[in-house]
This record gives sequence, C-alpha cells and structure tokens, in this order.
Amino acid sequence: MLKQIKTAALTALGLAAVAAPAAADGEVNVYSYRQPELIKPLTDAFTKETGIKVNVAYLKKGMVERLQAEGDRSPADLVLTVDISRLAAVVNAGVTQPVTSDALKANVPALYHDPENHWWGLTTRARIVYASQDRVAEGEVTTYEDLADPKWKGRICTRSGTNAYNVALTAAVIHHLGEEGAKTWLEGVKANLARKPQGNDRAQVKAIWSGECDIAIGNTYYMGKMLSDDEQKDWAESVNIVFPTFEGAGTHVNISGVAMTKAAPNKENALKMMEFLTSPVAQEIYADANFEYPIAPGTEPVGLVKSWGDFAADDVNLMTLAALRSAALKLTEQVDFDN
Ligand SMILES: [Fe+2]
Repeated sequence: MLKQIKTAALTALGLAAVAAPAAADGEVNVYSYRQPELIKPLTDAFTKETGIKVNVAYLKKGMVERLQAEGDRSPADLVLTVDISRLAAVVNAGVTQPVTSDALKANVPALYHDPENHWWGLTTRARIVYASQDRVAEGEVTTYEDLADPKWKGRICTRSGTNAYNVALTAAVIHHLGEEGAKTWLEGVKANLARKPQGNDRAQVKAIWSGECDIAIGNTYYMGKMLSDDEQKDWAESVNIVFPTFEGAGTHVNISGVAMTKAAPNKENALKMMEFLTSPVAQEIYADANFEYPIAPGTEPVGLVKSWGDFAADDVNLMTLAALRSAALKLTEQVDFDN
C-alpha cells in the first residue's frame, strides 16, 4: 500500500520513469496528428536502431482534450503534429514538459524550437505564391505586401482566411506591419480576390489552371503532391512557385514538431526518440516523405523540392506568431475576409 502511494506520488511529480522500471519495457507511445505513411518509416528506423518499440495512436482531432482527460495516467510520451497553432495549443494546455539536450540543440536551430523547450521542430514548409506560367511575369510578385496591390484586382485565389495556414501568415503580417498595417493588408488582398475564399490549397492551383485566377497562396509541399497525382499534375504544371518575402525580411514558414507530454511514462525512451527524430538523417526521411524542408544544419531537401529554388526563411520564432494568432483571427473576422 505504502509502495503504491509512493508510486502514485512520484507519478504525479512526473517521475514515473524513475519509480517504475518503465524504460526497461523498451517502449515509447506517440500520439500523432500526422499520417501513418509519414511516421511509419521513422518509427521503423528508430526501432531498428534502438530496439525500442514504438506504439502510435493516429488521431484526427481532440489530442489536447484526450491528454487533459488522461492526466497523469496518460500512456502518451510524445506528440507529433504540424502547424504552430497546434504545437502552441498543446503547450498552452499544460500537457507538455520542457526537454533539452545537446543533441536537440545541435539538430534544431533556435528559431525552430520553443524558447521554453516544450516543442522541437522537425521540418518546415513555406507559404508561397503559386503564379500562372502564362499570365504572371517573372518578378511581378516578390513580396507578401504586393498581394494587396490593386494591380492584382480580380486575380488572386485563396482558401479561407480562418484556415490555420492563413492565420499563421496573417500573424506574420501583424508581426511585420503591426495590427493597422495587417488590417489594411487583409482588406487589400480581399479586394483583389477573384472569388470568395473556398477549398484547400490545391483547389487554388486548379483555379489558376482553369483560368479563374492568376496567383494563389499555398504551401510548398502541395506542388510535390500535385505532381505525384495523375489528375492534379496539369494544375501543378500550369504554375511557378514564387517565394515572396516580407519587405526587408524573409519568407513565411510553418513547422512540424514533436513535444514530450507532461505525464510521459517512458521519459528516457521518449528523449531518445526526440533526439532520433531531430537527427539530420531522420529529418531528411521525414521531409522527403511530404516534400518539406529539413532544418538541421547541413541537411538538404529532396531534389524536386530543391528545384523550386532557394529562399531565406523569415527569422521570427514561431511562438511569437502563435502569440499573435487570436489577433490575426480577429482581424480576419473584422474585415469579413471570407465574404
Ligand atoms: Fe496541408
């Protein structure tokens, strides 16, 4: 009985790995919002290298609620997800714990991990402009600010302004131009839209292909996905990728990352897996599977992704943008962007 109480108390303090021989189980449990085809090659490689078994629960939604409901008894050690809004949401819900190590710091540039070390980045994707090869000249669009220029009237397509990708971009606009500037920018872009925001990023490229608009906002990896799809290949081949920058700054990127849960029962194995996932080789496997960019020093994207060109990522920590998320959403609603 005393032993049970002690164990429970230690578990509550997050010391389960010390109190119970959990590490000897040779397991690590992952909650993932990312698809099996992206995660499986990595978990297989990790198990092969370490002998540690990886159990993955693939979730579509409700990760934060599930971790909160499970509390100290949660079996999850790690969460894998994409988009700064999701990473910030798990951290802000208090269900993660800070972790650091020499390997993590060596593998992940400071811009791409939480300043408080609750999450560590694995890959990035840029939010760029898809431009019609026929109707947009080279150099016609170079900045995000450009998108609000009346010369694009009736020529821009985008998905909903309240979609997470666009909210993160709008947060970056606030960071660079201030709230007033961002409001003016949103109004300018809205005035330039060829149609009401709708569909996903790929649907915008399709609309360029069909002649409905000339430029669209989208994530880089969709180019790779469209080129791998028989029906969508033509859409992809009708556009060029342009990496816009903010005036005097870089291109907006978003991130996929990993965080350790607060209750992690297999803490030691979880740290091993974080170090493995952030390693240059694993980052390249992970990035290549979804046409993204690895971030460790010395790593390179796959050939196709490299062929889209080089760019300098905006040097703002993504947690700064996460903090501007609700302001971005509010402005988007204020200007009634989607209507
Ligand atoms: Fe996506």
